[in-house]
Amino acid sequence: MASDSPIGIHDLSFATTEFVLPHTALADHNGTQIGKYHVGIGQQSMSVPAADEDIVTLGAAAAAPIVARHGSDQIRTVVFATESSIDQAKAAGVYVHSLLGLPSAARVVELKQACYGATAALQFAIGLVHRDPTQRVLVIASDVSKYELDSPGEATQGAAAVAMLVGADPALVRIEDPSGLFTADVMDFWRPNYREAALVDGQESITAYLQAVEGTWKDYTERGGRKLDEFAAFCYHQPFTKMAYKAHTHLLNSCGHDTGKDEIARGIGQTTAYNAVVGNSYTASVYLALAALLDQADDLGGRPIGFLSYGSGSVAEFFAGTVVPGYREHLRTAEHREAIARRRPVDYAGYRELHERFFPGDGGDHPAPAQTTGPFRLAAVRGHKRIYETRPPGLSHSQFTTT
Ligand code: HMG
Repeated sequence: MASDSPIGIHDLSFATTEFVLPHTALADHNGTQIGKYHVGIGQQSMSVPAADEDIVTLGAAAAAPIVARHGSDQIRTVVFATESSIDQAKAAGVYVHSLLGLPSAARVVELKQACYGATAALQFAIGLVHRDPTQRVLVIASDVSKYELDSPGEATQGAAAVAMLVGADPALVRIEDPSGLFTADVMDFWRPNYREAALVDGQESITAYLQAVEGTWKDYTERGGRKLDEFAAFCYHQPFTKMAYKAHTHLLNSCGHDTGKDEIARGIGQTTAYNAVVGNSYTASVYLALAALLDQADDLGGRPIGFLSYGSGSVAEFFAGTVVPGYREHLRTAEHREAIARRRPVDYAGYRELHERFFPGDGGDHPAPAQTTGPFRLAAVRGHKRIYETRPPGLSHSQFTTT
């Protein structure tokens, strides 16, 4: 059954880590002038996962408030997008499905294409809702961004998860056709299976991103998309927030538009607040930009916004969404601000220790130190299996139950 009703994002919630490393601590350690971080790449701090946090605990923490608000009866599909996968076979979403007590009559899959994965998940979800508008799809984008210590990429790490409930007659954003698509086989950023940290050619990655901006916009325009000046704002993938400025300047330039400071700020100024303090959350990043925009902007009801999703390697998509009148009643602004404010600062030595931590692959019993005060934790890796725990509401931060 095809649907004539609009389909899009009905609810959106994000979660981030227990710890935060201010860029001042990184600059003190490596002797970099802080202006390079604060101005040059536009980053203030980065989220750092505790030893007992991972993409599953972050994803579950992001999705739990959505399930609490809407129930789970209509959720028949969970799509988990990540590029920091914890298993080559089992979808991380299956753990989340269990932690959240979702119905067994559901399909759960994991999608990957670098930072683009969540947009593929969103489009997959829209297709499913077209077939059956009574269903809703839970899309979870969750990532931990990790580069080598003391490498140029180190300053652009971060971690977060965004959960989105996709359905008919959405309360937040209606996603439109057409999309502009672009794929190019480039080695700008990649992570072979045997590596924890990504490999990256920084300057090549910026060039590849800008080429993708041009490519997606060309395809979007050729398919009858909106004119550039119709958009109230643009949400870009933000590996670091200065990248959104570079990308938007490039788009406006390539369309012969004014690229003055005010014009750029009008387009993206309200999309960077969360990414500037969270860092690169890979698949979640473009939807953190959306959260920041919706949480901060004056009423955008009825206005179109542009999305540019880029994933290294590379695949990109430009698409539009119209903000639904009345959306402000459904936002989670206070919870989002709290997710950022509750993080505990970690010093450089503590961050380095967390960065270097790993679970031995010997099949033994390896408990994780109890560090997180969030609702879910990775308790151990035991016999090659990941063991998760839930802290039911009302229990203290140290009380968890094993799933
Ligand atoms: P770098 O070599 O350390 O820095 O790498 P730089 O020398 O290029 O300087 C950065 C900026 O700071 C420059 O500004 C400097 O001028 C400025 P720009 O010329 O670019 O406008 N600067 C200063 N500004 C003010 N005061 C100062 C000062 N000093 C310098 N004192 C780089 C930076 C981003 C390349 C590095 O951090 C990196 O490799 N990061 C990882 C790769 C990345 O994020 N690429 C982005 C595009 S690819 C992408 O988005 C996909 C991705 O998310 C992965 C995925 O898809 O899965 C990464």
